[in-house]
Amino acid sequence: MNIAVTGANGLVGSRIIELLKSKHSFIPFSSKDLDITQKDIVQQVLDATEFDLLLHLAAYTNVDGAETEKEKAHTINVEGTRNLLEQVEKAGKKMIYISTDFVFDGRIPPFDEMSTPNPVGYYGQTKYEAEQIVKDKAMIVRISYPYGYPSDKKPDFVQRLRQLLELNKPITMISDSAMTPTFIDDIALGLEYLATHYKPEIYHLVGTKSYTPFEVGTIIAKHYELPGSLIMPTTYKEYMKGKAERPQYSIIMTSKNIFTPMKTFEEGLALLDS
Ligand SMILES: NC(=O)c1ccc[n+]([C@@H]2O[C@H](COP(=O)([O-])OP(=O)(O)OC[C@H]3O[C@@H](n4cnc5c(N)ncnc54)[C@H](OP(=O)(O)O)[C@@H]3O)[C@@H](O)[C@H]2O)c1
Repeated sequence: MNIAVTGANGLVGSRIIELLKSKHSFIPFSSKDLDITQKDIVQQVLDATEFDLLLHLAAYTNVDGAETEKEKAHTINVEGTRNLLEQVEKAGKKMIYISTDFVFDGRIPPFDEMSTPNPVGYYGQTKYEAEQIVKDKAMIVRISYPYGYPSDKKPDFVQRLRQLLELNKPITMISDSAMTPTFIDDIALGLEYLATHYKPEIYHLVGTKSYTPFEVGTIIAKHYELPGSLIMPTTYKEYMKGKAERPQYSIIMTSKNIFTPMKTFEEGLALLDS
């Protein structure tokens, strides 16, 4: 299968390609090769590309930035997705749109594929708007807090926290909210299955256990043998002051993934060098 990939240099895209490149033929696009906000460019580039499926990962992903750069976030996440879908449909090809647990409000967990989105921040709002554009026309795959093998290009939350602890920086982490970390290699294997069992439906590819961020921080400190005492618990309300609102209890799960086993955070982290 020829798989065209937007956001191929990003945290998730770069690892998916690295892991699966021996088995599939990828056509990776950076924003320089294919600016998804430029309708004409999207048409030209996709017309000239032989692909069976477009894996669309490119996005404006700065959650706090999206609150002040609303137009940019909207143009990339919503209009960019619309431009791609139009060309994919014209070419009669398939598309997988990668979305996020941030489409949910995080108020009454858990959230599965049947739950109704209600984003609380602008980033989540743009990702949900794009979902509504592609719904029933492309596959929507929601992921949550991806982490995995460290990349120089964009560190994941594990590496960012590790770096702070190595600098002996005291950190506060929330003890009354939840997140669901997801090992990127599991996402890659789940996507590989879904690409070959394609249906324009919604799927969640997420870790099998949720944690408070404070627990996650403590697990990371232990794994890298760094001082966990630098991490202090704080409340969601206190931590979110001056930041974009995020879903408080992002306990995201799946009722449809019976095809790819997904690791807990402890299991995924254990595979990374300490
Ligand atoms: N990271 C998370 O915590 C998380 C959680 C849930 C869902 N997601 C979703 O997963 C997907 C991948 O996330 P990620 O963390 O890998 O993102 P990322 O590392 O921030 O990478 C996003 C990529 O989007 C590309 N991009 C930005 N503007 C573009 C444009 N105008 N045209 C074409 N490409 C453009 C960038 O390409 P260049 O580098 O070439 O400029 C960048 O590599 C996104 O759709 C995101 O919403 C992420």
